[in-house]
Amino acid sequence: MIGKLNHVAIVVPDLQAASDKYRDTLGANVSEPQDLPDHGVTTVFVVLPNTKIELLHPLGENSPVGKFLEKNADGGIHHLCYEVDDIIAARDKLLADGARILGSGEPKIGAHGKPVLFLHPKDFFGTLVEIEQC
Ligand code: CO
Repeated sequence: MIGKLNHVAIVVPDLQAASDKYRDTLGANVSEPQDLPDHGVTTVFVVLPNTKIELLHPLGENSPVGKFLEKNADGGIHHLCYEVDDIIAARDKLLADGARILGSGEPKIGAHGKPVLFLHPKDFFGTLVEIEQC
């Protein structure tokens, strides 16, 4: 059911420093920061030949990554995103298999303008999983 690894998301305490490190130290192709007020994050995309790294920083008061940064002051891996062909079919299979979907269970439009859902980390070995219809 899952296809390509679309991205790995990393929460960072300083977006500029993280961008500089990926660009200058690791020699990667790094985007400009993008504010996503609907998601409470500012993102920078690092584009690799086979996947992307999404650097996330809290935006606004109720950012979903604000608490993460409080607990992990140096930053850390936040989630993995796998591509699926049909997000409704994927959701229904996951629910039938007993996996928990976060939020209302209805797909939201994610950072890339495509429908996404998040799966409970306790059902996936301590890893927050995002699925994105691509
Ligand atoms: Co993501």
